Amino acid sequence: AAQAVLKKAIALAPDVLIPGGKPDPLIRHTGGLIGAPVSRIDGPLKVSGRATFAAEFPMAGMTYAALKYASIPRGRIVALDTAAAEAAPGVVLVMTYRNAPRLRPMPAFMTQQKAAGGDDVPVMQDDQIHWNGQPVALVLADTQEQADHAQSLIHVVYETGRDAVTSLAAAKAKGSEPGLFQGEPLKLAIQDAETMLAAAPHKIDVRYTTPRHNHNPIELHAATLAWQGDTLRIHDTVQAVAHEAWTLAQVFGIDEKHVHVTSPYVGGGFGSKTVWQHQVLAAAAAKLAQRPVRIVLSREGVFRIVGGRTLTEQRVALGARADGTLDALIHTGTVAMSPHNNMPEPFILPAKSAYASRSFLLDVETVRMNMTANTFMRAPGEAVGTFGLESGLDELAHAMGLDPIELRLRNEPEKDPTTGLPFSQRGIVEAWKAGRERFGWDARREPGARREGDWFVGMGCAAGTYPYYRMPGGAARITLTDKGRATVSIAAHEMGMGTSTAQTQIAAERLGLTMADVDFEYADSHLPGVVLAGGSQQTAAIGAAVMAAHHKLVVKLLRLAGDGSPLSGLASGEVGCRDGGLCALDDPDRFETYGALLARAGHDHVSVEAEAPPPLEIQHWSMHSHSALFCELRVHGVTGEIRVSRFLGSFDCGRIINAKTAASQFRGGIIMGLGLALMEETHFDERTGRVMNPSLADYHVPVHLDVPEIDIIWGDEADPHTPMGARGVGEIGITGVGAAVANAVFNATGRRVRDLPITLDKVM
Ligand code: MOS
Repeated sequence: AAQAVLKKAIALAPDVLIPGGKPDPLIRHTGGLIGAPVSRIDGPLKVSGRATFAAEFPMAGMTYAALKYASIPRGRIVALDTAAAEAAPGVVLVMTYRNAPRLRPMPAFMTQQKAAGGDDVPVMQDDQIHWNGQPVALVLADTQEQADHAQSLIHVVYETGRDAVTSLAAAKAKGSEPGLFQGEPLKLAIQDAETMLAAAPHKIDVRYTTPRHNHNPIELHAATLAWQGDTLRIHDTVQAVAHEAWTLAQVFGIDEKHVHVTSPYVGGGFGSKTVWQHQVLAAAAAKLAQRPVRIVLSREGVFRIVGGRTLTEQRVALGARADGTLDALIHTGTVAMSPHNNMPEPFILPAKSAYASRSFLLDVETVRMNMTANTFMRAPGEAVGTFGLESGLDELAHAMGLDPIELRLRNEPEKDPTTGLPFSQRGIVEAWKAGRERFGWDARREPGARREGDWFVGMGCAAGTYPYYRMPGGAARITLTDKGRATVSIAAHEMGMGTSTAQTQIAAERLGLTMADVDFEYADSHLPGVVLAGGSQQTAAIGAAVMAAHHKLVVKLLRLAGDGSPLSGLASGEVGCRDGGLCALDDPDRFETYGALLARAGHDHVSVEAEAPPPLEIQHWSMHSHSALFCELRVHGVTGEIRVSRFLGSFDCGRIINAKTAASQFRGGIIMGLGLALMEETHFDERTGRVMNPSLADYHVPVHLDVPEIDIIWGDEADPHTPMGARGVGEIGITGVGAAVANAVFNATGRRVRDLPITLDKVM
């Protein structure tokens, strides 16, 4: 009995996600595992080299693949000489459109529930070229070096088509189409914003641009695969195992059960680790050669065939009354896409919910260019949309002589300003206040007013916002043994963000077990669930599935508890979990361990599987993570060099599940945002459609010396309408960083830079 009161029992949460339902009991449970700064359980494996990544799995009789990439943007192959490559030492196969097996195009990502293809260009099926960098040949050899050498011997002659579109101006001249994101138009008008802007006493009306960005996860895109009988076995680095299995099944015309994808460790993804042509080509070559294949893209290869973030041109126009409240919020513009994908960088999403305004005009138009299919890249839309919107707020505040934080607080909406939905929980005002105090915002001076030696010192701020998503299709299996151990199985992903650790914490807490008693099994397409590690929704998707499975498990256990059990006669709503077993909620002494219960029933284990309820919560509430970001930097008066000296992120993301991994997510996102602000830019040759800087020597990302100490705080107020009270902590980190830096550059120098990245030539 003394022990019984040590821990509070956790009640079940069967109706959390139903509007009107009770909140998840875990959101109020304190002093347990949730929120604790637990170190990553996969950490020791990774730092000691014992974690096996996709390109490290051994297979008997392995062959190694190398790709040859097209050097024209659009047109056709008129001559192809592979004789020298075929005769080169160690070569097993040279595959081109002439001998590749017949394959269906990959269903493009987000066009169907499980579609994960980066593009839907036919993979090596004809002589047509669709972008500069498209694979035109794959060589298999006994070693990687032999394959790399042999591909260099292939001679291709092309004829460039007159319809190639490689400049943005030419693409615009052909006309634009309305953007569609997840089936919804990226267009919204409330009242007549142009007229209200024209009449507003205070206004700004400016243009911003953001360049193309390429994905550069540390781990290159890679797969090791083989046909084993009818089944394609693939060790991949991917953030969508179930989606990949289905997508490859469509390509090869087989049942998705016959594609088995595992991806236990992923060295970064950020939206890029989906299905691109290399997995399809490697699987096709493995079929032709009847040998296992390892394909590891070179860094250049990732730039050539894996899409990144596309360019944007944005107009931000804000009209305000004398008190700073907005009469008009206009955010419109153009993005480029390839003709073969489905990702119109939705940069207007932040403007839909961030601020109150009496009128809105939001619109993303798309134009098509012959280029690598662009794709999701950390906070797609929000990361660059907040550069425009939050720079615009700063420009308006300066024009009005208002403090930029004060301007934002005066436009805090009471409900979602464009849908009218109530917010599930919103703590951005508290985040601003806590951040302002901690950062020492009051030390900020007028633009150009603070100088230390040759350095101009400035402070800037910006808000970030990222939606809470929970995609349908989550499912989980829980297996409980008579030894009191549980295994939670779900086709989810660990890309380095701490999923396996956080999910072990959550499952242990929910079941009343210790972390050592719980195994979290994931990243295998044969496990239950269709769960994307994307949209910062994985924790919610897994959480909802585990809640459903937990409920089913307890119902089953109570059915097994016979007359001899202290739990006899209790219903699922009357019990809670604690200390490795179940108890009555109104009498914690009515308790039995899982082991004792199962032993009496004569079972060595029970196993249940359940699907998450549909994501109705997002239809009833406006749900978003938020941040208030503060940047201090120095700009050298002679060279224009920019050094970020301090950064603070003040976050409002609901309940934080793991203080350590969440802080790392925020910091990592902010570092990626510093790259977006100051360095990252894919150089695209508008004559040839060729990416000109396909290496980390020429495409710059922040290194340690570029990154100051990053201070992180959060409000930790639970969201009553989500599993565990948590919202996403992934993509919110990068969101708003570009504007916080740009606004600090303006404050330091008086120079407003509206075109990313803010390189030193732009501040001189
Ligand atoms: Mo993220 S761009 O949803 O991996």
